[in-house]
Amino acid sequence: GAAVEVDISSLKPGEKITTEWRGKPIWIMRRTPEQLADLPKLDGQLADPKSERTAYPTPEYAKNETRSIKPEVLVVIGICTHLGCSPIDKLSSGPQPSLPDDWKGGFLCPCHGSTFDLAGRVFKNKPAPDNLEVPAHMYLSDTKLLIG
Ligand code: FES
Repeated sequence: GAAVEVDISSLKPGEKITTEWRGKPIWIMRRTPEQLADLPKLDGQLADPKSERTAYPTPEYAKNETRSIKPEVLVVIGICTHLGCSPIDKLSSGPQPSLPDDWKGGFLCPCHGSTFDLAGRVFKNKPAPDNLEVPAHMYLSDTKLLIG
C-alpha cells in the first residue's frame, strides 16, 4: 500500500493525532519530558519491556526505551494485539477502577482491559500478548514523517 506522509509540526507535547495507513489507525503522539522519564520506571510491570517478542516485530530503530526514532515522538498502530479492538487514551489516572493508582498514562483497551504504557508496551497479566505494533516509518524532515 501507498506510504502516508504526515506533517507533525503542529503536534504539541502531550498531544496525539491519528492518521490512517493501509486501513489501520496510526497514532502519533508527542510525549512530554515527564512522560518520557516515567517509561523506564515501568519496565518491571510490563510483559515485554524491551520489545523482544516477534509476533509483531519492532523495527530495529524503535527497539529502545521509548520505542521510537525521536525520543519524544511515538508512532504505533492503534489496534490491540489481543483481538483487534481500539484502545482509548488514558492519560491520567483519577477514579478509574480499571487503572492502578500509580498509573502514569497510556492506553486502555475497552474490550478486555489490556493496558499499554505511553510507548505502547503492554502490561503483564493482560489478555493482549504483545506490545502495540510500530509500523515501518522514517523522517523526511524534522517535522515530516513517512509511514509505510
Ligand atoms: Fe484488547 Fe481484548 S481486544 S484486550
